[in-house]
Parts: sequence; C-alpha cells; structure tokens
Amino acid sequence: MTSLNQWLNQQPNQDLGALIDSLAQVCTEICTLVRRGPLAEFQGAAGNTNVQGEDQQKLDVITNDMLIAALKQTPSCRAIASEEMDHAIEANPNGQFLVVFDPLDGSSNIDINMPTGTIFSVLADLPDASLDDKFLQAGTKQLAAGYVLYGTATILALTLGSGTHFFCLDPATGVFELTESNVSIAAQTQEFAINASNQRFWEAPMQQYIAQCLAGAEGARGKNFNMRWVAAMVGDVHRILCRGGVFNYPFDHKDPSKAGKLRLLYEANPMGLLIEQAGGKCTTARQRILEIEPSSLHQRVPVVLGSLEEVNLIGELHRQFDAKKA
Ligand code: F6P
Ligand code: MN
Repeated sequence: MTSLNQWLNQQPNQDLGALIDSLAQVCTEICTLVRRGPLAEFQGAAGNTNVQGEDQQKLDVITNDMLIAALKQTPSCRAIASEEMDHAIEANPNGQFLVVFDPLDGSSNIDINMPTGTIFSVLADLPDASLDDKFLQAGTKQLAAGYVLYGTATILALTLGSGTHFFCLDPATGVFELTESNVSIAAQTQEFAINASNQRFWEAPMQQYIAQCLAGAEGARGKNFNMRWVAAMVGDVHRILCRGGVFNYPFDHKDPSKAGKLRLLYEANPMGLLIEQAGGKCTTARQRILEIEPSSLHQRVPVVLGSLEEVNLIGELHRQFDAKKA
C-alpha cells in the first residue's frame, strides 16, 4: 500500500505536496463531522444565503471555517476563495499558492444521508493582483485539483497535472491509501446525467441530444442509455471517473442572468482538470472549460463533461445549431 503522504513525497513539488496534505487532513475532519449525521446537531439551514443567493446549510458554514483555519496554518497558502464567501481572503503573506474551494458540494444531500464532497483547486499566486483578481486564472493554470467524496467510502480524487489518482480513507487508521493510479475514462458510454426537470428551458441541441438517448436502440444512436443523477456534482463526476458516462448542467433559459448553474473556479475547473487528466473531455458544449478566462470569482458556466464520444457529439450538435442560426 502507498499512503497519500508517501505518494506526495515522490512528487516533484514538495511545497505543493505539503499543501495537499493539509487539505486532505482537514477533509478527514470534515468526514468525521459529516459521518455523525443527525448526531452532530449541525444539520439544517444556517438561516442565511451565500453570495449565489442559495440557502446556506450549517455544515456549509462550518466546513468553510474548518478549511480556512487549516489553510491559514499552512504557510505556503497565500490566499483563499470559496463558494461561501463573497470575496477572497488573505492566508499567509509569504505563501506561493492560492486555494479556491467548494467546502461542501451537494449540501442539499446532507439532511437525507446522501453523498457530499469538498472540491478544491490550487493556483500559483499572482503577486501584483488584488486579492479577488489573483484567482481569475484560466483552468489550464491549475497546479492541482481534486475532491474528497464523503460517500459510502471517503475517496480523494487528485491530480497534480499528470494523471488522476484515487486515494481511499482507511477509517481504522485515518490514512488515505492509493487505490487507483492513472484513472482512465472509457471513450464510449451508455449512461447520462442531467436534471430533466429543466428540460423545457434547454436549448434545441441539448433537447435533441437527450431525445436521442431516450430513443435508445430504436433511435439515431442505436443503443439504449441509462440515467443517473446524484444531485451532488462530486458524486456524478466520481461515477464518471469510475465507469464513464456524461454529466450535463447545460445552459438554460430558466434564469437569463445565469449562464449555467455551476461555478467555474471551484466546480467546473477542478472537475475539468480531473476529467481531462483521466482522458475525458470538459466543455460548455461550445468551448473547452479550462481555456475560459474568468471574469469574476463566482462566475457560472454550462458544463458538459465525461466520455469523449458523448462530449464530442454534444459539441457537434451545438455547432450545427449555431451554424444554422448564423
Ligand atoms: O453545487 C451545485 C450543485 O449542488 C451540484 O453539486 C449538483 O450537481 C447540482 O447543484 C444539483 O443541481 P439541481 O439541484 O438543480 O439538481
Ligand atoms: Mn457545489
């Protein structure tokens, strides 16, 4: 067995390794808290909304505070941004890394004992930029990205830009052990994930794609599809890393002020790097996510990610649609 610590010691950037180790440590504490379920007395709403206008759960706030406290004690961390904070905050003046995270993705799953997770992305500091602007870097610049899924087992999925790797937390020892190196997503799949309740708001090419999947063996695709929706991106992405598939949170017309539901810096970018490093693809249906130049900390983007063949087909349907409109 190779522990996360041993694995990080073999990586070229030791400072980055120490930062990842701090993140993994605090995630084991978050795991302990989440695992207590209703016994922790932290379930339910916190009574306030975050900058996105979403109701904050008590655990959103608590896990956010836990990550901040850990990163402030990690000298290499320069600044911190989070889904739960309007603006970035200082960590350590001499730090070289920026850490941006979603402290508890899928938090509507907390009260029903379903999976949640912590998603994180690490960037290099931009010394001359203001605090918020430091984080406005394209996803291609990420030095590391990962998530910890609090599911039936607790799994860390991690990339330092060279492959995506799984580590499973051993509850008996509190140590993350390497369980799969260089995860690889099958190019073909027969499984899709989308919140179908938004169907009437989707654009025509997404309607067309899902209609083809639903038509199954009798339709244009000539094969049957299955559908899954965990309601926590971290769970859907983990399934895709494990057995392929495609995840869509597409552009829709439900709220014209929002380009999509998911956030670029702490959801789409880290997941995009993990997916690409496993041989999959991550786009808005029209553009590679990792090449987007961010314009604000909490920017939203449409997300289409997973197996190559499906993401390419969805891209092609959008290209044809746009070409007809032009
Ligand atoms: O963080 C946003 C999020 O909770 C994702 O984890 C998840 O994929 C999505 O929203 C679920 O959205 P909906 O509630 O619309 O199904
Ligand atoms: Mn989230």
